[in-house]
Amino acid sequence: MPTQSIQRRSFLIGAGASAVAASSLAKSLANSKPGDALVAKPGNVAFFDADGPSTEIWSYGGGIPGPVLRAKQGERLRVSLRNELPEATTVHWHGLRIDNAMDGVPFLTQAPVVPGDSFTYEFSANDAGTYWYHPHVNSAEQVGRGLSGALIVEEADAPDVDRDVIWVLDDWRLQKDGLIAPFGDLHDAAHAGRLGNVATVNGKSDVIFRPRSGERIRLRLINAANARVFGLDFEGHDPMLLAVDGHPVTPASTGSIPVAIPPGGRVDLLLDLMAKPGEKFRIVDRYYPRNAYVFGDIHYSAADPIRTTPRKIPTSIGENPVAKPNFTGAESFEMVFQGGAMGGLREAKYKGKSTSLRELAGMGMVWAVNGAVIPPMTKDDVGTPMLNLKLGTSYILRWRNNTAFDHPIHMHGHSFHVISRNGRKLTAPRIMDTVLIRPEEFVDIAFVADNPGDWALHCHVLEHAQAGMMGYVRVE
Ligand code: C2O
Ligand code: CU
Repeated sequence: MPTQSIQRRSFLIGAGASAVAASSLAKSLANSKPGDALVAKPGNVAFFDADGPSTEIWSYGGGIPGPVLRAKQGERLRVSLRNELPEATTVHWHGLRIDNAMDGVPFLTQAPVVPGDSFTYEFSANDAGTYWYHPHVNSAEQVGRGLSGALIVEEADAPDVDRDVIWVLDDWRLQKDGLIAPFGDLHDAAHAGRLGNVATVNGKSDVIFRPRSGERIRLRLINAANARVFGLDFEGHDPMLLAVDGHPVTPASTGSIPVAIPPGGRVDLLLDLMAKPGEKFRIVDRYYPRNAYVFGDIHYSAADPIRTTPRKIPTSIGENPVAKPNFTGAESFEMVFQGGAMGGLREAKYKGKSTSLRELAGMGMVWAVNGAVIPPMTKDDVGTPMLNLKLGTSYILRWRNNTAFDHPIHMHGHSFHVISRNGRKLTAPRIMDTVLIRPEEFVDIAFVADNPGDWALHCHVLEHAQAGMMGYVRVE
């Protein structure tokens, strides 16, 4: 259970903040063209109000989130990173299936980019959809301080909408003085991760979205939070699910249970805004039922509706070129995730030696996979692969959560088909790169190991990844 609850409109400054924040949200995020440079550097932002306390952050280009990188499907992107942070960094292109050398995992795929240095990433955007980028060095702190941005790959056959809107969802743990609270809390690592006390959309708290009646928007939700799962309930509206982790689904109503977006995950919604001019609604985050909070508001403008009957349900977007696994011949493996607080794990292998959980906790390591805590990768030792996979072969992995906490498990370099949950087959397998596995759940995922290289596989609760839940698989 999360120990941090979101404080809204009462945190730091008073209710007057919302109008200011709302107007900033209306401004679209800065777009960047392929070929641009990302400069990772410290900056200062005001989460609430220009006159309120300012917070030191780390950013791409000075603000949060970083610039939106856009490409057309199939286009090649060339982005150079310049590191003006006080420590080494890299960029990982979350969800994109690219060359291993461009994947941004320190030591495993590249040397960390030290302060003052640059590195040029170049890759093809073969899959359309909503993706994002973030560092992979000291990720809990670097992402937690604000390093993240959206990466949009446009389909040739995008559904016709009135507006395409990107919301980078995040949460922050701010102190009363407005500064970001220190990182490295072992309690966070052993529980649900670092949950913040201020939720933001595109870097602003207290969101008011101001549509015009009759609009249809494509809302691209990206969860850049370290640990918080978002489950947004758009009261009075019935969003349609369009894509998950960039990959299209057959458009359908999301129903009464809000779609859960785990850290690292993305969800594209189609939102028909058919209420009357001037009407107001709440957006409530209900993922943690006992800690539901008002995430934002929808205030319709007074302008006349642009249409009064909703547009018809669109057909699905064209599929991405993700190989279909061959289920009959597929080899299967199980990965059991263990440990953490209340997880019942007493000891685990660490660097080959059976070690008590207490001793492991003393080293900041509290999670295990198949009985072994995965040590952090270093320049001299990236450890051994969790699995050796044959290029071009289909695999089924069972990921089992034997812990008391959620784990969004993310695999690099591939998108996988989630085929069943708790042994129950999904009617329509979903293609994802980050799948949320709740306590005592297991999921079966299938994929073709068609991208050669060493690919990180980890929990996207960044504090978990750092505390033993990050390894890699080798495809060759
Ligand atoms: Cu979004 Cu390995 O991460
Ligand atoms: Cu986890």
